[in-house]
Amino acid sequence: MASGVVSAPVGVEPLDVPRIKADFPILDQPVGDRPLVFLDSAASSQRPTAVLEAMDRYYCRDHANVHRAAYALAERATNDMETARRRVARFIGATTADEVVFTKNATESLNLVARSWGAANLTAGDVVVLTLMEHHANIVPWLQLAESHGIELRWIGIDGDGRLDLGDAARLLEGASLLSVTGMSNVLGTAPPVAELAGMAHAAGALVCVDACQSTPHTTTRVAELDADFLAFSGHKLCGPTGVGVLWARSELLESMPPFLGGGGMILDVRTDGFTSAAVPQKFEAGTPPIAEIVGLAAAIDYLEAIGMERIAAHERSLTEYALESLTDRFGDDLTVYGPRDTDHRGGILSFAFAGIHPHDLSQVLDTHGVCVRPGHHCAKPLMRHLGIGATARASWYLYNDTADVDALGDALADARDFFAV
Ligand code: ALA
Repeated sequence: MASGVVSAPVGVEPLDVPRIKADFPILDQPVGDRPLVFLDSAASSQRPTAVLEAMDRYYCRDHANVHRAAYALAERATNDMETARRRVARFIGATTADEVVFTKNATESLNLVARSWGAANLTAGDVVVLTLMEHHANIVPWLQLAESHGIELRWIGIDGDGRLDLGDAARLLEGASLLSVTGMSNVLGTAPPVAELAGMAHAAGALVCVDACQSTPHTTTRVAELDADFLAFSGHKLCGPTGVGVLWARSELLESMPPFLGGGGMILDVRTDGFTSAAVPQKFEAGTPPIAEIVGLAAAIDYLEAIGMERIAAHERSLTEYALESLTDRFGDDLTVYGPRDTDHRGGILSFAFAGIHPHDLSQVLDTHGVCVRPGHHCAKPLMRHLGIGATARASWYLYNDTADVDALGDALADARDFFAV
């Protein structure tokens, strides 16, 4: 395979990565005397000019507060925001745009589910099922609910390959009220069989919440196919801005849930003795929303869809196969990869241990090569404890990465091994 070229499955047009890279101005910069190799998109992706321009255009032409004023400028801003909501709804296959709530990020979306639906519906002894591969954003809100409401948490375990232990899932789901599961592990790259798990959860009478933070940016999302009741994701991991996230939920759930945050924008009426909530989704959008960021998120979705989510998924799959094969061949036992080897069950996140070098030290040496990876526990401490490790180094790719970036990672690793050997 020529350097930089990623093969695509038959019938899927490969991505033109050099052209895509050119859409992302931040990638065109040196780190010292080397080009930037950005392999940390699982933490936060970069954004294309189209997103920056959409936000700039919004601020230069359309900005005013939304859902409040009657003048034309404010109507334009409101229209921009509501057009974006419809865009998001279409992107994930929501039935109506009213099922899309804008939040600050996926963390806030998951907190909304726990604090609103959870606090209103769960009492002592009620069961929420999580998995051992969740990010803290899908753990701590439920631990808080365990403290405040006495709910019980059950944990689906992980097998030796870094996949969920489905054998025990049916038993754990018995009598549960909710299953909250990641769409893709931010550490292992594992892509759990969400629809299968959702079927099991529904059969047991539980609702299903999907933390799609790492999956929605990388593959087609259809809430009906996932059989989800709630779905959360962030804008900044899918080429959109920071400061905006999405909670999607089935209409009847949103209708039945109490508001999360109180303030302007989420009310129909306020009296000295109480208030009446606005209709959904405004009921959950207290205060001035991140309007420009919402506009930027819609532009990011337009950008990704113009390329094609299926093509992006195929590209990342090929790149993952290339990375697993080439880095294993090159480094043998010096490289320990966590998570499934089979790309049917994983996405483009590669957590690893390397040559006995601490991940923080390793990432500093990689940085001298311009290679950005994240070291640490990745906000998934229960998983780290289960694996018996404190930290990993994690490389993660997106549509703007190619095999040359993986090769640059390999060269930097070889250099780190030499550096720490002396
Ligand atoms: N959830 C982000 C990560 O995995 C921040 O790095």
